[in-house]
Amino acid sequence: MSYAVAIAGATGVVGQEFLRVLEQRAFPIQSLRLMASARSAGKTVAYGGVDHVVEDLAQADFAGVDVAFFSAGSSQQEHARRAAAQGALVVDNSSAFRMDPDVPLVVPEVNADAGRAHQGIVANPNCSTIILVVVLAPLEAQARIRRVVVSTYQAVSGSGAAALAELESQAQAERDGSPLVTEVYPAPIHANVIPFVQGFGDDAITTEEWKMVRETRRILDRPELALSATCVRVPVRRAHSEAVNVEFEREVSPDEVRAWLADAPGVRVVDDPAALAFPTPRDASDGDDVLVGRIRTDPGNPRAVDLWLTGDQLRKGAALNAVQIAEAVLGVEAGAAS
Ligand SMILES: NC(=O)c1ccc[n+]([C@@H]2O[C@H](COP(=O)([O-])OP(=O)(O)OC[C@H]3O[C@@H](n4cnc5c(N)ncnc54)[C@H](OP(=O)(O)O)[C@@H]3O)[C@@H](O)[C@H]2O)c1
Repeated sequence: MSYAVAIAGATGVVGQEFLRVLEQRAFPIQSLRLMASARSAGKTVAYGGVDHVVEDLAQADFAGVDVAFFSAGSSQQEHARRAAAQGALVVDNSSAFRMDPDVPLVVPEVNADAGRAHQGIVANPNCSTIILVVVLAPLEAQARIRRVVVSTYQAVSGSGAAALAELESQAQAERDGSPLVTEVYPAPIHANVIPFVQGFGDDAITTEEWKMVRETRRILDRPELALSATCVRVPVRRAHSEAVNVEFEREVSPDEVRAWLADAPGVRVVDDPAALAFPTPRDASDGDDVLVGRIRTDPGNPRAVDLWLTGDQLRKGAALNAVQIAEAVLGVEAGAAS
């Protein structure tokens, strides 16, 4: 069986990654339609050696579309609803539906079954949350987690194409001795780190930090889980990283954690201090696995383990996870993996 597929947001960095993931996994595509804003309507984007003309999402009719991957922002949620009402399975990358109790929030390695109960829309979680829960879930299955403290090191491509351009232009401006222009971020991202991702609420916690708290609780089905996040943007082009302290109900050794993660789907342990082996965002870029290393006992708490993880947020944090959701819901066998 093959499917009529649509990608809304096809001209963005996630949309472009969708095209790569679908091709690499040999997703059975019968027909492909690409959509973006009116600004991009009429442009062409190549897939499988064939040019596809980009349609204006606002004008697009979804009749006959089997699967619609949305990565056009939460402001486009009415079109996602429209696509679902016209019979498409919608997998949405924005934050619009993630906490809607009628919309499953799915990371296939963790809760693939939840996706099968969809009512037309499945939500793809926040990118930092996905790469975290892929690692927490196999630990939670072995020893109940009491508390998680996480600091993120989030890549610039997580903010889309405009942010990548801002990083490049600031680097060039510094070489030229010109002032650094900031439009996407509230401070220069070139040669800097910014302890702020998205917006602040009244509680001084950022939107991204609340997403990590709420979405992790929902995906792990631990509504009361204690989780504290500090989300930080770093001048890395691609792949988010996280320093994580996981406290368990009982003492857990680093060797146990290593063994549990070695068997976990979507995870690869890279952890050999003697060989200076630890994962970096460059190692994770363009790959499917979340890489984990620096696994050690918290010196102040024998029930807690510190670890470092890194994963490609355009792939596992966005396009790959969404395609895996569609495969799980539709019963499609993944083809040639990258
Ligand atoms: N980047 C990541 O790592 C990441 C990870 C997880 C989830 N997400 C989510 O994925 C979505 C896309 O992110 P991105 O990073 O790919 O952003 P991006 O590079 O800025 O691309 C945005 C895409 O949305 C389209 N779009 C914007 N406004 C639109 C409108 N009014 N009508 C129709 N299409 C519109 C753009 O079309 P034009 O080119 O025509 O403007 C473009 O195709 C966002 O919801 C984001 O939160 C991103």
